[in-house]
Amino acid sequence: MNTIPKERIEKLRIELNRHNYNYYVLSMPEISDFEYDVLMKELQTLEADYPEFADSNSPTQRVGSDLSKDFEQVVHRYPMLSLGNTYSEGEVRDFYERTARFLNEPFEIVAELKYDGTSISLLYENGTLVRAITRGDGTRGDDVTANVKTIRSIPLKLFGKDFPEQFEMRGEILLPWPEFDRLNKEREEQEEPLFANPRNAASGTLKLQNSAIVASRRLDAYFYYMLGEELPTDSHYGNLEAARSWGFKVSDAVRKCTTLQEIFEYLAYWDKERKNLPVATDGVVLKVNSLRQQKNLGFTAKSPRWAIAYKFQAERAVTRLNSVSYQVGRTGAVTPVANLEPVQLSGTIVKRASLHNADIIAGLDLYIGDQVFVEKGGEIIPKIVGVDVNSRSILIGEKVCFIKKCPECGTALIRPEGEAAYYCPNETGCPPQIKGRIEHFVTRKAMNINIGPETVEDLYNAGYVKNPADLYVVKAADLLRLERWAEKSADNFIKSVDASKQIPFERVLFALGIRYVGETVAKKLAYAFHSIESLEATTIGQLIEVDEIGERIAQSVVSYFANSKNRTLVNRLKEYGVQMSLSEAALSTRSNKLSGKSVVISGTFALHSRDEYKQMIEQHGGKNVGSVSGKTDFILAGENMGPAKLEKAAKLGIQILNENEFLMMLEE
Ligand code: IVH
Repeated sequence: MNTIPKERIEKLRIELNRHNYNYYVLSMPEISDFEYDVLMKELQTLEADYPEFADSNSPTQRVGSDLSKDFEQVVHRYPMLSLGNTYSEGEVRDFYERTARFLNEPFEIVAELKYDGTSISLLYENGTLVRAITRGDGTRGDDVTANVKTIRSIPLKLFGKDFPEQFEMRGEILLPWPEFDRLNKEREEQEEPLFANPRNAASGTLKLQNSAIVASRRLDAYFYYMLGEELPTDSHYGNLEAARSWGFKVSDAVRKCTTLQEIFEYLAYWDKERKNLPVATDGVVLKVNSLRQQKNLGFTAKSPRWAIAYKFQAERAVTRLNSVSYQVGRTGAVTPVANLEPVQLSGTIVKRASLHNADIIAGLDLYIGDQVFVEKGGEIIPKIVGVDVNSRSILIGEKVCFIKKCPECGTALIRPEGEAAYYCPNETGCPPQIKGRIEHFVTRKAMNINIGPETVEDLYNAGYVKNPADLYVVKAADLLRLERWAEKSADNFIKSVDASKQIPFERVLFALGIRYVGETVAKKLAYAFHSIESLEATTIGQLIEVDEIGERIAQSVVSYFANSKNRTLVNRLKEYGVQMSLSEAALSTRSNKLSGKSVVISGTFALHSRDEYKQMIEQHGGKNVGSVSGKTDFILAGENMGPAKLEKAAKLGIQILNENEFLMMLEE
């Protein structure tokens, strides 16, 4: 037994855990990022050299892995209840007086901020994090331990010794504002849908299959509730203090109150001050401090009687409605937008607000010139929530009625049954729809042609590109006649168009922009039909036989090809050399050899990367799962397979294949 590296590994783990805590919980680092990285690197190297000392709670495990995991559902030992909501001081007073009557003895209230993220329950055994479960339906949630371990402010091992053998810590996982802004900016650049608020971003991130991406998003967490059979103290406040001493991030805003007046002061203070916090909060939680008194008060079916949430008022501004404009998107959907007299709201100047759809407009009973209430309801675009009817004068403008004709091409709008939106049906003649389809066609995930919306607009206005096929006939000389184009940019454009002829069929199918045919559906259709000709000749009945293709998608595909303009477009693209069928290579690397099989990948490999193996498993109909269980069919094992996995596999009698054996199996 090699004791020197073992000791060093242990020492490094303790030291790195402390630095993590200093940095992520206390925000008081003692060493530089560089020094931290040096220590981390040393530990990583030692762990790789001595896999026998592996520990799933080592600080090195915070970087995540690219293993894809289907989350396991776990029943909560104590259900995760919600809180009763109040919206006024009057309701808070009611809660306080009700509690006083019931207890009939002195009591304290602990006031805390209500963090607006996604709740989590952590199970600790002997000071080690063993499980992290989402709220789920309150009774059972998803096991997201691997993802939670990447959150640096969550302790994997606790400090000190005075913690119970087993207990649960509940808290809120949050995406701080700066990180939320950074993430949305990145998504905007990559043309991915934006997160509406940090709460959605946090819960979406926690449910990602790839914990390495989770690690890159810098989630944070605050803890506010301890549960267990043997707790350190008999008060909520005491337990939070204990949790803080073990390394949990407990908010500094927790305050003990003994009078209603103190509670109101706390509400007023944080209603203003919360705007300076780096994370989103949406209220205050008030809890009876004594655990004995909590027990006496008990629970209703849904929530505790000893606690209540007070929700802050959403910030609101009043301003004048100047006009309403209507935007037509790529799919022809028409969105109404209110143009407002600019007004300050939660730190930004608001000039436009969403009016959603015709029903919302009718419900508001709006007139041009009205004073309207605007709120930022956790959405990106603010919305109009009401009208100040009392301030209307005889000088008021026209009533706002949803338009009947397309503002861009004049075609009468239609409203499909069961939908809230109006559409312009002139798919092939309405300019924003045409430009939108060209913009979609060129995006990175589709044909990856290197131009943005402005260039599309220029090319369209100049009459060079009226549909995606025209991109393939534009000449460099044409471009040079336009503003902003030079030899080099024209050349790059032509090269990029040329390169797009190598884009595989499944992406071409996605690029066509058939309604409801996103990336995944396009892939499914490509592999089910192999070529555009057979897809064109297919019927609704044949389409819905394909896994995960329903009537709505089938109907959309059939009507796309029923339109002769679309057929002409497809034929032209084919003529110019765009891939309209799956390549031999794509077809030959696919099979059903692993159909229905669950495969775990473990260790490091010499011949292909982990991602490549994952792709191979999927291409042959199998599924790559993260953890070994009775359902695992076999393990694809490389060097240094984890000892825990090895042991479990042996116990369950699961077959283990090395790289060569696996590749041979696919070749057979
Ligand atoms: S206490 C039994 N404290 O609000 C009471 N909850 O509707 C357990 N939340 O699901 C919750 N900040 O996700 C508590 N300081 C705080 C909180 C808080 C945010 C969330 C939590 C819970 C929901 C209650």
